[in-house]
Amino acid sequence: ESAEAAESHPADFVVVANRLPVDRASDGGGGTAWRTAPGGLVTALEPVMRDRQGAWVGWHGAPDEALDPFDYDGYHLVPVQLSAQEVEEYYEGFSNGTLWPLYHDVVAKPEYHREWWDAYHAVNERFAEATAQVAAQGATVWVQDYQLQLVPQMLRQRRPDLRIGYFLHIPFPPIELFQQLPWRRQIIEGLLGADIIGFQTPGGAQNFTRICRHRLKMETHREVVTLPTGRSTRAKAYPISIDAKGLESLAQSQATLERAAELRRELGDPEVLFLGVDRLDYTKGIYHRLRAYGELVADGIVDPRKVAFLQVATPSRERVEEYKRLRDEVNMLVGRINGDLGDVRRPAITYLHASFPRAELAAMYTAADVCVVTPLRDGMNLVCKEYVACRSNTDGALVLSEFTGAAGELRQAYMINPYDINSMKHGMTLAMNDTVQNKRRRMRALRRQVFTHDIDAWATSFLDDLAALPPAQAPSSGP
Ligand code: ADP
Ligand code: G6P
Repeated sequence: ESAEAAESHPADFVVVANRLPVDRASDGGGGTAWRTAPGGLVTALEPVMRDRQGAWVGWHGAPDEALDPFDYDGYHLVPVQLSAQEVEEYYEGFSNGTLWPLYHDVVAKPEYHREWWDAYHAVNERFAEATAQVAAQGATVWVQDYQLQLVPQMLRQRRPDLRIGYFLHIPFPPIELFQQLPWRRQIIEGLLGADIIGFQTPGGAQNFTRICRHRLKMETHREVVTLPTGRSTRAKAYPISIDAKGLESLAQSQATLERAAELRRELGDPEVLFLGVDRLDYTKGIYHRLRAYGELVADGIVDPRKVAFLQVATPSRERVEEYKRLRDEVNMLVGRINGDLGDVRRPAITYLHASFPRAELAAMYTAADVCVVTPLRDGMNLVCKEYVACRSNTDGALVLSEFTGAAGELRQAYMINPYDINSMKHGMTLAMNDTVQNKRRRMRALRRQVFTHDIDAWATSFLDDLAALPPAQAPSSGP
C-alpha cells in the first residue's frame, strides 16, 4: 500500500513510537529479515493495537531504508526513515547515550553532544510530520517513550484538533539529575504539548511536576500543570503491564508444557532451576546477579551438580560503547565462574546471548523454580510479570529488585537491593529454600495483582482519561 493510500484512510487512533513492532534486522548473510522488535514497549503495545486497530508510526530498525506503509496483524504500520547518521546521533547517541543513562539514575555516564541534540530535534520533527499526515480530524494520538519527547508539542503546533497522550516507559529522574541536561527546558516543553503525560510510577509523575513548578515556575495542583497560555496538562502514573491471560494460555498449552519438561532435561534435570531473562542492558544488573550467584556456588550454599542457572540475554544497542563493554564483562564473568566452579557435565551458569520466540520464553518461565530480576533501575520491568503470569501451579518464586517500577505492585516478591550483594545472595537462597506454603501464598498474591492489572486495564485507564477531557480547543488548520 502506498503513502497516498494511507492518507486517504486517515486513522482515528495512532500510536507513535521509535520502534515498529517488527524490526528489519540483518540476517547475518548480508540480507535483511523481519523479526519481532525487542523490549517491553513492543510487548506491551502489540496487544493494545491488535484490539484497537488504527495506525502505528515508527522506525523499522534498518538505516537508510525507505518503506511504504503496510498492514500487519489487523492494523496499519507507517515506517519512518532514519539515515545511518541519524541512527548514530538520534538513536544510539541522544536516545541511548544521553537520555537512557540519565533517566536511569546515571548508572552509566550520560554524554552531552550538541550534534546529537540537533539530530534528536530533527527526527522528532519527522515523526510529528508523519503522524500529522495519518491522523484523522479529531483523532487520538498516543506518543511513546523517551526517544520522542518533543513530538507532543510539535504535533500540537501542526494539529491542534488532536487529542494527544504521551507515555514514558522508563523512569523520570529526580530534578537533581535531570538538571544536568543542557536541553532540559526544551524537553519539558515538548512533553507539555500532550493533554496527559503518563508515567510508570507516582514518583516519576511527581518528579515531573516538581520540575515544572520549581524550574519553569508553572502552577501545579496535584497532577495538573497549568501552562502560561492557560492550557493545562496532567502528569499521572499508569503502571504498564502484559497480556497476562494470553501468556498464561500459551504457558498452559501442551506444546509449552512438553518443551518446559524437555528444557529441564536438557539442563541436566536440576533440583532447582534459576532463570534470568533480559535485554543485555547495564540497567538490568545482570553482572551483579551472576556475581552473587557465583558466590553462592563458591560458598557451597548452591551445589552446581543439583542447581542450574539459565541466563538469556537479548542482544541490544550493540554499537553503543557501554553495551559493548557490558557484553565483554558478562562473557568474562560467566567464563570465570564456569571455569572455576563448573563441573564436566554441568556448567554453573548456562548463558545464551540470543533472542527467543514467545513460546520458548513461556517454556523457560514454566520450567524455572526461581526467576531473578535485579535491575539497578527499571521503569517497570515486564519479565517479572511474565514469570508470574506463567505460574498457574503457584509454586515458583520471584526475586525482585526494589529499584523496578514493578516493586511498587509486586510486594509479595522476595525483594532485594541489587547494590547489596549479600541482600541478593540472601534473597536467592530464601527463594530457593522457602517452604512450599510460603511460596504459594506469595505467588497467589502476585498473580492476583498481575491478572487484575493487565495490559488492557492499563490502556483502558489511560485512554478513558484522555477521552474524558474536553474536546481540543482549536479547529484543525491541517489537511
Ligand atoms: P526492557 O523493555 O527494558 O527490555 P522489560 O522487562 O520491560 O525490559 O521487557 C522486556 C521484554 O523483552 C519482555 O517482554 C521479555 O519477554 C522480552 N525479552 C527479554 N529477553 C528476551 C529474549 N532473550 N528473547 C526474547 N524476548 C526477550
Ligand atoms: C525499552 C525502551 C523501549 C525500547 C526497548 C528496546 O523497553 O523503553 O523504548 O524500544 O527498550 O530497545 P531498542 O533500543 O532496541 O528499541
